[in-house]
Amino acid sequence: MKKGAFITIEGCEGVGKSTQTAMLKDYFESIGCDAMFLREPGGTEISEKIRSVILDTSNEGMSGICEALLYSAARAQLIEEVIAPALLQGRIVVCDRFTDSTFAYQGCARELGEEVITRLNDIACCGITPDITIFLDLEPEAAFRRKGGADADDRLESAGIDFHRRVYDGYLKCAAAYPDRFKRIDASFDADTIHNSIVKLLKTAGVV
Ligand code: TMP
Repeated sequence: MKKGAFITIEGCEGVGKSTQTAMLKDYFESIGCDAMFLREPGGTEISEKIRSVILDTSNEGMSGICEALLYSAARAQLIEEVIAPALLQGRIVVCDRFTDSTFAYQGCARELGEEVITRLNDIACCGITPDITIFLDLEPEAAFRRKGGADADDRLESAGIDFHRRVYDGYLKCAAAYPDRFKRIDASFDADTIHNSIVKLLKTAGVV
């Protein structure tokens, strides 16, 4: 087994992140690798509380900058309490969403811009950046079709197709800006094919 690594999984709503995260967890267990699996926003008691405020549909008046600060606050807590200590111990940490989500959703879809998000991420992350980002690439129209529509109980998910188009464009900007760590996986295939591509990618990167 190789040394620890920080892996993030990104993509639009309904691209199969949860399915792939669960399959990856099973895979790591099957090879005897003690990887830690987290989700953002969340992963600590405080961050989960912040998550419920962010996603609550009754908070429809929340401003874009308030939203971005809350995601950053949840992240700061997760990093200090969980991610930084785990990486220091040399563990593999897999996080469902991270800073690229803030860039795509708040920076691009909410139109706060790159500079604001970079500043927030710098403050929240204390220099911690992903070694590899697995981008499950599927356009939002196709993803929602496959998922059977947006979840009306989720404030972000129900934001409308134009919003999710801007999210997708934001991810494409990340792909262009970080070609070394941002690895695109075609998420239009079936779950097993996507999983095999992810494992191949991690093997090539020397993580497993
Ligand atoms: P999830 O549905 O993948 O659990 O993510 C929760 C929602 O939060 C999803 O709509 C994406 C959104 N999100 C942001 O808008 N900015 C962020 O920084 C993160 C981590 C998630």
